[in-house]
Amino acid sequence: MARIFSGIQPSGELHIGNYLGAVKNWVALQSQYESFICVVNYHAITLPYAAPDLIARTREMAIGLLAAGIDPEKATLFIQSQVPEHTELAWIFNTLTPLGELERQTQFKEKSGRQEQVMAGILNYPVLQAADILLYLADLVPVGEDQIQHLELSRVIARNWNARFSPDAPYFPEPQPKLTQTRRIVGLDGRSKMSKSIGNTIGIMETPEAIWEKLRPAVTDPARQKKTDAGDPDKCPVIYQLHKAFSPPAVVIEVEEHCRGAKWGCIDCKKSLHGHLVAELAPIRARAQELAGDPASLTNIMDAGAERARVVARKTIADVKERMGLPLAASAH
Ligand code: AMP
Ligand code: TRP
Repeated sequence: MARIFSGIQPSGELHIGNYLGAVKNWVALQSQYESFICVVNYHAITLPYAAPDLIARTREMAIGLLAAGIDPEKATLFIQSQVPEHTELAWIFNTLTPLGELERQTQFKEKSGRQEQVMAGILNYPVLQAADILLYLADLVPVGEDQIQHLELSRVIARNWNARFSPDAPYFPEPQPKLTQTRRIVGLDGRSKMSKSIGNTIGIMETPEAIWEKLRPAVTDPARQKKTDAGDPDKCPVIYQLHKAFSPPAVVIEVEEHCRGAKWGCIDCKKSLHGHLVAELAPIRARAQELAGDPASLTNIMDAGAERARVVARKTIADVKERMGLPLAASAH
């Protein structure tokens, strides 16, 4: 069975952007692939944060993933800092990563531009990401479009390591991205990618009322000033894309016809979307509330996931160190 690896930052909010771009895909893929899904808290500490807040966000993200349908019996779900081999391999990879490749990463430029002082962790972030993926010798990485450049770098690192330490038969596979139809969900502003840091999200745990308050004022086709103006769904950046993601195909066709034919107003269209969106999210919210009420079970699930991940991680690190002339930790013998 081919292996997939993916990661998500404990940003405090699973929103419909990362849900549609990645998480929903992980849920679908977990039955077909050997899956490793990681809450990447070592990535999260590359930007300023408060410790009590981080632990809460990490647990919330784990709850969100389980509620969204990640099944710990099928997929190995774990927290990055519980598997120390990630940082160990990241250090090794730092010695094989050209500085220029890191400096030209779009996400590095964006993030470092917003900081007063730029710490080395932001620059080296994609090296840790390569370590995450390659530690499990993953073939495929289901992610949104924004991660493609990071994955290219993971392939460069795999190639560099293979060329130096395993030239005859490549040890590390070169991981490929696996994108979905909804590879880039636009935020409620209708312009930027939906993202917690921009504040244009709909969270998957939000109440139906809160979701309506966000949908109601969302931008639509500017040509539709009043109900009788004909519209173009392709110029409706938020509502139409979400209909395509959450509503049944027959409804999507109806939306198109009603918009082009000015048969209903944007509010009618938003109400229809709201119904389908809430119907998909309601069971997720209910499961999340249940999980939040049982913190001991959550700890057990995450500890068990980390144990399973470590079995694979330890083997890779042992192989890597052996080929590089690095003795293992004494306790590993
Ligand atoms: P993040 O929440 O930034 O850690 O991202 C987790 C996963 O969701 C990654 O695979 C991202 O590519 C994906 N993702 C995040 N935001 C979006 C979005 N607005 N549209 C599509 N995919 C996204
Ligand atoms: N950089 C990814 C993001 O922001 C998160 C991530 C870290 C990741 N390690 C990974 C994604 C490994 C896929 C594979 O979304």
